[in-house]
Amino acid sequence: MLKVFSNLEELSRFAAEKFIEIAGEAIEKHGGFTVALAGGSTPKSLYQLLGSGEFKNKIDWSKVFFFFGDERNVAPGDAESNFRMANENLFQPLRISVENIFRWQTEIENAEEIAETYAEALTEFFGRRENSPAHEGGSDLPHFDLILLGMGDDGHTASLFPFTKALTEKSRIAVENWVEKLNSNRLTLTFPAINNASNIIFLISGASKAVILREVLEDEFRGEQLPSQNVKPTNGNLFWLIDTDSARLLNNSLDEIQAD
Ligand code: 6PG
Repeated sequence: MLKVFSNLEELSRFAAEKFIEIAGEAIEKHGGFTVALAGGSTPKSLYQLLGSGEFKNKIDWSKVFFFFGDERNVAPGDAESNFRMANENLFQPLRISVENIFRWQTEIENAEEIAETYAEALTEFFGRRENSPAHEGGSDLPHFDLILLGMGDDGHTASLFPFTKALTEKSRIAVENWVEKLNSNRLTLTFPAINNASNIIFLISGASKAVILREVLEDEFRGEQLPSQNVKPTNGNLFWLIDTDSARLLNNSLDEIQAD
């Protein structure tokens, strides 16, 4: 489903209400809500809204478990850290308990070890959730109730960048991913983990995303060049929440769009 909003503020408000709706259903259904947060700048206003107090009493935040779709290979207090942005705008205002936050442990020296440690934490957490498929010997993929994603102007999502090794990972759920153009390792969930979610929400805003968004949504499939095209939840719902600036070049997707 695509929805176009006049601006990031309206987009963020809809996203906050959808977050609370999905969280409430998950808590009702299996006693907890698992969400993988997006990094970058777009989600900041969503996190600020959720942490603002207006949503404080809408769900039992002690039953919300926070993960990260990806992370930069920097210390958790670094200005570039996705954890830091969420911590300042969401976790601290809502006084989220540290036991409910699962960050990539980037204080570990070796990127591969960070990824393996995170994968183990996910497998352990999702394996012990009541009625989790892993319990009944089902898939050992994490089953997030919600994954939030952004998209770069090169079509990357999480830290799955064009023509990088992690794009084709089929078995590991969390990996280190060398990104040549950044000259650095990134840490990211893989598409098998992402596509196993019950709900995925893309948050996309700004004129700089217009060209790439049209390619991702309307051009033929080119998954290595346009990584966001690989986001196709196996059994879940996919929401594209975009603003008018990023939507301005869309043609045939418009008939699916419900303008807000
Ligand atoms: C990150 C994100 C990344 C982000 C896009 C869009 O770690 O940077 O996970 O995938 O969502 O780069 O970033 P903006 O929202 O800043 O445009």
